[in-house]
Amino acid sequence: MTETDRAKTPDDPTREASASPKGSETLTPPVFDQSFQQQFIDLLLWRRDVRRFRTDPIPEADIDGLIAEACLAPSVGNCQPWRFVKVNAPERRRAIRDSFERANQQALNDYEGERAKLYASLKLQGMDQAPVQLAVFADEETEAGMGLGRKTMPEMLDYSAVAAVQLLWLAARVKGIGMGWVSILEPNVVQQVLDVPEHWRLIAYLCIGYPEEDNVVPELVRHGWQDRIDPHDVTLDR
Ligand SMILES: Cc1cc2nc3c(=O)[nH]c(=O)nc-3n(C[C@H](O)[C@H](O)[C@H](O)COP(=O)(O)O)c2cc1C
Repeated sequence: MTETDRAKTPDDPTREASASPKGSETLTPPVFDQSFQQQFIDLLLWRRDVRRFRTDPIPEADIDGLIAEACLAPSVGNCQPWRFVKVNAPERRRAIRDSFERANQQALNDYEGERAKLYASLKLQGMDQAPVQLAVFADEETEAGMGLGRKTMPEMLDYSAVAAVQLLWLAARVKGIGMGWVSILEPNVVQQVLDVPEHWRLIAYLCIGYPEEDNVVPELVRHGWQDRIDPHDVTLDR
């Protein structure tokens, strides 16, 4: 990590505060009326994992805005462990793309017959087109939050970073921007390629850009890999 990078890490007290997203001007709680509620459901229905992107660029300010909105996520002890790395350098992108190829080949080797054929036909990342690539890490050694809420379940730190990724996904979709989560990667390789501290755990590698098309049905459903599961089938009464 360079000195400039280091100066930007969230635990550095000299670092400038980033702009907060702007809400309505008053402190009166908003009323989310029926039309908003329906739109919110539409947002959930139409958020997609996107792997097919147009290559036109996304303004840097829009990406910074999405990151700022993601930072409104809940986190255990309010520790805000998320760390974002904008992956800009072509050689770093190439090295991560190579990591995907290796991990994907290994994953393919674990399937057999028709399932293997189907797996091989899936498009599982959009790194060649996505104009923006963002790695999200969790800082496993952050002192923020003073350990509250993660004594018996330390994994809550990582879950907090996941919560930020989910917000980023929704915030992007609202603006017509697509996001795809790539997890078929070698995390140690990504960490080395991006030259981040060892105690940052890779949570997500995100491809971001304008989608080639919108679809209400997930790609893995459309291609017969895995259907949606009925919420009743994943809910118990005790
Ligand atoms: C933790 C996580 C990891 C994922 N990793 C990948 C991935 O490596 N490649 C991929 O194509 N999709 C990946 N996805 C996207 C899922 O395939 C997708 O969310 C799921 O098929 C449902 O589709 P939808 O997001 O469009 O509703 C990932 C999603 C999550 C939440």
